[in-house]
Amino acid sequence: MREKLWIYGGLLLFLVGVTFPVWRDAITHATTQPPALEMPANQKQCVAPTDYMLTSHMKLLMDWRTSAVRDNNWKYTSFNGKVYQKRFSGTCLQCHSKAKFCDRCHTYVGARTPYCWNCHVDPALVKGATP
Ligand code: HEC
Ligand code: HEC
Ligand code: HEC
Repeated sequence: MREKLWIYGGLLLFLVGVTFPVWRDAITHATTQPPALEMPANQKQCVAPTDYMLTSHMKLLMDWRTSAVRDNNWKYTSFNGKVYQKRFSGTCLQCHSKAKFCDRCHTYVGARTPYCWNCHVDPALVKGATP
């Protein structure tokens, strides 16, 4: 009798443990779905190839900042010949939404909140602002 108690008790513990991720997710409404990023409606191409943007947009932004602010070089010629102003809010946020694009992905991947917004403006928050 004793042994049975141990066996069934052990089995129960095992089952609870093994299925833990399933009911934890059910209870906390967790999801493994990637975030729904709002993509620009009328645009097909970013300022650089998408693969590059996915991995290296922070580097691109830093390059823009340094060359614009230090070297007074404000024009960025894209890989496809299009020319963009090296502006953080002024260019990126003309196509992208900070809240529905940048923030959603940063929150999902657990990235540090970029401190850039301490100074740079989200044009969506300020009517008539020049970003
Ligand atoms: C002219 C409009 C436009 C501008 C300006 C622009 N983007 Fe994009 N961006 C897009 C489009 C369109 C896509 C999706 C491309 C695709 O689906 O292949 C994209 C994709 C991306 C992606 C990849 C997202 C993903 O999940 O695939 C990142 C990151 C990104 N952009 C960041 C930026 C940053 C940072 C800037 C400013 C330096 C910027 N974008 C400027 C239009 C733009
Ligand atoms: C598809 C996911 C994704 C999207 C969309 C995205 N980012 Fe990022 N971003 C990342 C990841 C991943 C990092 C790296 C985080 C880290 O190193 O901790 C990052 C880092 C950054 C950094 C560097 C932060 C730091 O303190 O080092 C900046 C600046 C930045 N992103 C700006 C933007 C802007 C502006 C947009 C919207 C135009 C954007 N990102 C959209 C994934 C994304
Ligand atoms: C302490 C305030 C401050 C912070 C924080 C800050 N910037 Fe800036 N940034 C400025 C100022 C001021 C300029 C110069 C604006 C001008 O001359 O038009 C500038 C210019 C830039 C430019 C070129 C011009 C423009 O209008 O966009 C880029 C690109 C840029 N910053 C990117 C970034 C990024 C990316 C971050 C975060 C990783 C960041 N900045 C954080 C103050 C700041």
